[in-house]
Amino acid sequence: MEYGPIPPSKFDDVIDHLRENFPDEPLNASVGLSIKGQPCPLLEKYDLMTLQEGMSVMAVDKETGMIAGVALNGTCSKGDVEKSLENMKTVDSVPFHRIFGLLNNVNKEVDLFSKYNVDRIFDLRILSVDARFRGRGVAKELFSRSEILAEEYGFKLMKVDATSLFTQKVCESFGLKVVKSVRYGDFKDEDGKKIYDTQPPHDYYKLMVKELTGKRSAD
Ligand code: ACO
Repeated sequence: MEYGPIPPSKFDDVIDHLRENFPDEPLNASVGLSIKGQPCPLLEKYDLMTLQEGMSVMAVDKETGMIAGVALNGTCSKGDVEKSLENMKTVDSVPFHRIFGLLNNVNKEVDLFSKYNVDRIFDLRILSVDARFRGRGVAKELFSRSEILAEEYGFKLMKVDATSLFTQKVCESFGLKVVKSVRYGDFKDEDGKKIYDTQPPHDYYKLMVKELTGKRSAD
C-alpha cells in the first residue's frame, strides 16, 4: 500500500471511492443519505470543499493503482458550527438534517474552541476504506499520517466525529479522548420509533479529541 497526499487530479477518483464505500458509515446506512454507487450532491459538495484544503490523505493499492482508503481532513474555525446550523435551514432533506443536526448540535453544545482555548481545529471529517481492504490497518495508517499533517500545520487540537465503533477504536489507539458520547438508540420520533436505527456494533457517536504538541513540526 502507498500512502500520500491527494492531488486535485485524484478528486474524482476519491468521490467515486466514497460513492461505493461511505454509504456503509453507520449514520448514513441508518438514514439513507447516500446510496451505494449513486451521487450524493449534498455530501460531495462538502467532500470537495474539504479536499480543496489540501490536507487529505489517501491509500493506494500498489498492484492496481486503485484508491484503497481516504482520510478527508479540513479546518474547523470558531463560528463554523453555528454557520452550518444556519445554512442547514436552506436544505430540504430529512436524512441530511438527521445526520448534520446531530453532529452540529453536539459540537455546538461541547464548544471545543472555548473548552481548549483554540480558534481553529484539525477536523478528520471522513475516514473511508474500500470494503475489500478493511480490517488490515489502512484506517490506522491514514489516521497516523493525518495526525502528522495536523502537527506540521501547527494545529493544537485534532477532533473526530467518530460515528462508527471502528473509528472510535482507531481514535482510542492514537490516544484521543471522548468529550461527548451519545447513544443512537436514545433518539426517538413522536411515535417512539428510533430515528437512528444503526446496526450493531455501532451504538454510539463519540466526539473525540487530541491535544497536539507541535513536536513533530519542530523535528
Ligand atoms: N469487525 C470488528 N472490528 C473491526 C472491523 C470489523 N469488521 N473492522 C475494523 N475493525 C477494528 C479493528 O480491529 C481495529 O481495532 P483494534 O485497534 O481494536 O484492533 C479498528 O477497527 C481499526 O481497524 P483498521 O483495519 O485500521 O480499519 P479499516 O481500515 O478497516 O477501516 C473504517 C475502518 C474506515 C471505519 C471502515 O470500516 C469503513 O470505511 N467503514 C465505512 C465508512 C465509515 O464508517 N467510516 C467512519 C465514519 S466516522 C468518520 O468518518 C470520521
